[in-house]
Amino acid sequence: MCGIVGYVASADRVGAPRALDVLLEGLRRLEYRGYDSAGVATIADGQVAARKKAGKLVNLLDEIDQAPMAPARVGIGHTRWATHGGPTDENAHPHLGDGSRLAVIHNGIIENFTVLKARLVEAGEVFESQTDTEVAAKLIGQFYRGEAAGDLTEAMRLAVNELQGAFTLLAVHADAPEQVVAARRNSPLVVGLGEGENFLGSDVSGFIDFTRDAVELEQDQIVTITADDVAIIGFDGVPATGRRFYVDWDAAAAEKGGFDTFMEKEIHDQPKAVEDTLLGRSDAAGRLSLDELRIDPQDLKEVTKIMVIACGTAAYAGHVAKYAIEHWCRIPVEVELAHEFRYRDPIIDSNTLVVSISQSGETMDTLMAVRYAKEQGAKTLAICNTNGSTIPRESDAVLYLHAGPEIAVASTKAFLAMIAASYVLGLYLAQLRGQMFAEEIGDVMADLGQIPQKIQQILDQADPIRELARAMKDTPSVLFLGRHVGYPVALEGALKLKELAYIHAEGFAAGELKHGPIALIEPGQPVFVVVPSPHGRHSVHSKVVSNIQEVRARGAKTITVAEEGDEAVTEFSEEVFFVPETQPLLMPLLTTVPLQIFACALAAEKGYDVDQPRNLAKSVTVE
Ligand code: G6P
Repeated sequence: MCGIVGYVASADRVGAPRALDVLLEGLRRLEYRGYDSAGVATIADGQVAARKKAGKLVNLLDEIDQAPMAPARVGIGHTRWATHGGPTDENAHPHLGDGSRLAVIHNGIIENFTVLKARLVEAGEVFESQTDTEVAAKLIGQFYRGEAAGDLTEAMRLAVNELQGAFTLLAVHADAPEQVVAARRNSPLVVGLGEGENFLGSDVSGFIDFTRDAVELEQDQIVTITADDVAIIGFDGVPATGRRFYVDWDAAAAEKGGFDTFMEKEIHDQPKAVEDTLLGRSDAAGRLSLDELRIDPQDLKEVTKIMVIACGTAAYAGHVAKYAIEHWCRIPVEVELAHEFRYRDPIIDSNTLVVSISQSGETMDTLMAVRYAKEQGAKTLAICNTNGSTIPRESDAVLYLHAGPEIAVASTKAFLAMIAASYVLGLYLAQLRGQMFAEEIGDVMADLGQIPQKIQQILDQADPIRELARAMKDTPSVLFLGRHVGYPVALEGALKLKELAYIHAEGFAAGELKHGPIALIEPGQPVFVVVPSPHGRHSVHSKVVSNIQEVRARGAKTITVAEEGDEAVTEFSEEVFFVPETQPLLMPLLTTVPLQIFACALAAEKGYDVDQPRNLAKSVTVE
């Protein structure tokens, strides 16, 4: 939610000053974080030069083409997901302060901006936008001129001590052309270390083309980067050091790799994403070993309840985790949307394990829920894709997905990787607590090991799904039914269609159909049914087959996703997409894939941007 980049280089760095190129490349990679507007500010010839434009980054590029900017060594750039003030040119960042000699960009929400704005207006400041950010710009400007006496870091420090809410702020000043100053509270920021140049980014993709050496910042810290130095202090002014880390995915992983869209590429990345999530989780003897968890196994043995908290697609992965972990470990598991969790006084104690699931590791709702859980004394474990992000850093334990960068705003490969990681966690807990025999765990792990090639099989035979999607492009509504682990898959199938194709789509538990949703069925209504495996011990297969007949009898167009060889469904399905056989609990790793392909193809057929759907942002860093 809002992408931020900063850059500074020394005067003797070989090559032409390239601040603008670096900033625009960073924004291109961070555009998934918000695309309501984009803007840059550089310092050149003793002045702030700023360009900003509503809409996607391409509009800013046009603007710069029409009004070129002088070469510069220092600058900041922003891509916006609007919170305060509509997506207009005026509200685009950067915002200026100190008589236009200071430029500021911001990610987050400044909650006390109304009070501050009134005070600043009183002091003679004139505002040009409706944003909370401009308040920060004017405030830093006032401190720069006054109490901080021309020290930009100190001006930032004094200002952030007056701000409430969540923010990453970056500032450059025409009088301080050798530095970029940044502050962070509850919003993400990492530093990239170069040779004779340094970088700032909302995440490492903001500078991945230029360096893989990075520094993680803590909460409530200010960092001042110059070409050769990175100086960190707390909001209290006390010097601090950041943790250095190396970014182990390469820039090519964040490119489209021959596909038209990131979403298609990421759907096709899924065999590898699941494989990488499973990689190295067991030792030579086949025992699961999760050394990276950083949590005492004894503590995990004492867990009496697990609560999974997440938002969006990640929450549906959490639903799947519940079925698997309860089945394998016999520990009660609750799943809750992170934003509901902390406001309802949940019952948690030191024997509760709170498992957060988040691709970005920055979702504010999830982060706040993790913090709340910690305050209540619970143990916290993060399942996360993004190294160096806030949620894993603040959790007691972490299980990284290793799915590689996910750029398309709506999640696909991270979803499957989250499910795979949840299985690994469930099996590990079962092993630790003696709930499963080693051979049983080995069997599940072996079947999981087969999943990547089975996903590949689905991908290789996906043309009929795309054809159906194209044929259904004008459908106004699609319903999704599923039962057992197929239920969260149905929810995810519906969410993908809403997010990408902007059509009404609802997922239901198939057993619930008769209690209400069946009233929605009228002739021609498309209904996807995620059919459970006919082989499960307590299989609900026959019940779901009955549901298919019930909706069909009322005129629905039935489209089923079923296990290969499940002929029972064919007769009642207008279309069937078969997926290879696997253990019933593992089926979501396969049945999800046709639904993703369907939503992506239908949206593309309607001419929509599947990578950047309207109104959404990938990393939602506001509550
Ligand atoms: C946003 C995205 C969703 C995502 C959700 C949770 O709403 O648009 O695709 O599932 O955030 O994100 P996280 O990074 O926590 O998994």
